[in-house]
Amino acid sequence: MANDTLTITDNRTGKTYEIPVENDTIRAMDLRQIRVNEDDFGLMSYDPAFGNTASCKSKVTFIDGGKGILRYRGYPIEQLADNSSFLEVAYLLLYGELPTKEQYKEWQNGVVHHTIIHENIKKFIDGFRYDAHPMGMLLGTVGALSTFYPEAKEIFDEQSRELQIHRLIAKMPTIAAFCYRHRVGLPYVYPDNDLTYVGNFLNMMFRMTELKYKPNPVIEKAIDILFMLHADHEQNCSTNAMRNVGSSHADPYSSTAAAIGALYGPLHGGANEAVLIMLNQIGSKDKIPAFIKSVKAGETRLMGFGHRVYKAYDPRARIIKNKAHEVFEETGRNPLLDIALELEKIALEDDYFIKRRLYPNVDFYSGLIYQSMGLHPSMFTVMFAIPRTAGWLAQWKEMLSDDELKIARPRQVYLGAGERDYVPLDDR
Ligand code: ACO
Repeated sequence: MANDTLTITDNRTGKTYEIPVENDTIRAMDLRQIRVNEDDFGLMSYDPAFGNTASCKSKVTFIDGGKGILRYRGYPIEQLADNSSFLEVAYLLLYGELPTKEQYKEWQNGVVHHTIIHENIKKFIDGFRYDAHPMGMLLGTVGALSTFYPEAKEIFDEQSRELQIHRLIAKMPTIAAFCYRHRVGLPYVYPDNDLTYVGNFLNMMFRMTELKYKPNPVIEKAIDILFMLHADHEQNCSTNAMRNVGSSHADPYSSTAAAIGALYGPLHGGANEAVLIMLNQIGSKDKIPAFIKSVKAGETRLMGFGHRVYKAYDPRARIIKNKAHEVFEETGRNPLLDIALELEKIALEDDYFIKRRLYPNVDFYSGLIYQSMGLHPSMFTVMFAIPRTAGWLAQWKEMLSDDELKIARPRQVYLGAGERDYVPLDDR
């Protein structure tokens, strides 16, 4: 049987090193022993966007990007989307197993208990400009929660950690809905804990003068599925931000605010909003060839296409695409769907996209569903942040119990000036 090692010959010195291989991975630190001379710092690996670097060991989510497989704690995403609910999936991600009936009841009650936010939070949401982007408001408000719950900094106290986890899962929909109501100039709606997690969110978003809000069951179910699909995605940009900031032992509100900031970017969660903007700009099917031409010329990107990990159809996009038809039966067909379908068809037949293995990702169709439910595009990324909070917290929790936990501190390849003497301003 072959040795689980890698033999490296340094051609600069002629020396040979044997490095252990574990889980198809070498430890970058094992390269440090490779030196030209005693003063040499040692060999490093250079990987600017973590293209081939594992930053942690994790048991939360598995992705096989080549085969289009996504599993939470071993369960295929398709089975969860068909049979589970967001709150159950959040429990699964956070605690590693599907809950028993008893555990689920306790979890659900625990979350419901924390849906209300401090009245002062309303006041500072009021302070945002009338046209503030909900993601900016969400980021600021979640970060500010650490000032309401100072005990959250006790991150190694299990009881405190659990309390903050319950609070964050419970308050995200409330804060998100309040940010939305502020943006559209409507009064805030308080949580109705008789409703489901998603039903209550819809209540806080859309209730007008009715005494009791009754969510549309088709829309409620569709959002629940979308929330499950968005709940975790292993070491993506925002999860890496969560782990990175959390590695300094920051409280979970500050770390989650950092993750929200990462998600906001148009190359990550912000892509669902960008897809809608793009489809509107294209405007009609006859404009698609010209648009594809500009994408191929590198002038713009086909938003909602491509993924760092998936080099096959994103399994979440497939589920969402199928779900879209059910939602449109309820809400009326979104006219942008025809442009999206045609765009997908043309792109999937085009050599540029085939060669680069670019397929629709989770963001390609989700915005169309959200828009037909009456959501403004600025809320789309917020709809991503609410469920992803479960994944961020599961990854954060896992990181804190990792016996290899250290503050994240990458190295750099320094290419700047050598030492030089300061020149006074008058002499420059
Ligand atoms: N449209 C056109 N070309 C693309 C696209 C796209 N959407 N995505 C990648 N490419 C091209 C690149 O130009 C590059 O071509 P080249 O080799 O000729 O230079 C090649 O495909 C590889 O692209 P990279 O940017 O190196 O791929 P990377 O893994 O770094 O990026 C990313 C992944 C950011 C998702 C990228 O595909 C992208 O920008 N997509 C559009 C934004 C988007 O939909 N983001 C959501 C991702 S899912 C999520 O975060 C929830």
